[in-house]
Amino acid sequence: MNCRNSSGNAMPGHIAIIMDGNGRWAQARGLPRTAGHQAGAKAVRRIVEDCVKIGVSALTLYTFSTENWARPLVEVEFIMRLLEDYARQELSELHQEGIRLRLLGRRDGLPASLLRAMDETIAQTRNNTRMTLYLALNYGGRTELIDATRAIIAANERGEIESLDKATINRYLYAPDMPAVDLVIRTGGEYRLSNFLIWQSVNAVLCSLPVLWPDFTSDDLNEGIELYRGQITSQ
Ligand code: FPP
Repeated sequence: MNCRNSSGNAMPGHIAIIMDGNGRWAQARGLPRTAGHQAGAKAVRRIVEDCVKIGVSALTLYTFSTENWARPLVEVEFIMRLLEDYARQELSELHQEGIRLRLLGRRDGLPASLLRAMDETIAQTRNNTRMTLYLALNYGGRTELIDATRAIIAANERGEIESLDKATINRYLYAPDMPAVDLVIRTGGEYRLSNFLIWQSVNAVLCSLPVLWPDFTSDDLNEGIELYRGQITSQ
């Protein structure tokens, strides 16, 4: 879903970010890992604002993976609280900016108070159209495909599946209306997809940047967008 900005330059319509490096950022400063996540949440606020300003229509953030449950309990609980605070504190800001919030992932296992805060913000922002912010939370690409397959089998037993093709699978993903990913940015210097949007990113450009997530700025975002432009114009 690439599009053009007001100057006619190609723009990725959907950017997905693997926010890596919070722990290293904190470690480098002699701080607990939780301080890295707190600084990471500030970077989220900056980048959401940047994306909406430059006309990105969908932004997906890999916020908590199905693998992240293996982290120490205090760290997991800290991230959950941080996310709940984010949903509560950002509601008016997201709304003002015309941003619609959506969740992507399994609800099972997430704290009830976090889900309540998210659901409230999702409900209040549901008619906004400027940008959709998807938070991938308790998300894994393989889990998503397993859940979709289960739902397809159940629908088939009810006689609702006529054929099995890409469109059928799309319909049973967590967010069937989510546009294909154009650009995946991974911070922290690694090149792995780490089970992130494996179905939706088949044609995405991958940009790995050494910057640690809490230090991520508009310049880094622009670097990703420039890389994307270079790739699609050389196609
Ligand atoms: C990866 O860094 C980061 C996470 C698993 C958590 C992401 C969460 C946030 C950025 C917090 C707030 C999010 C929102 C949406 C408000 P890491 O801990 O794996 O870093 P490391 O590789 O250096 O250890």
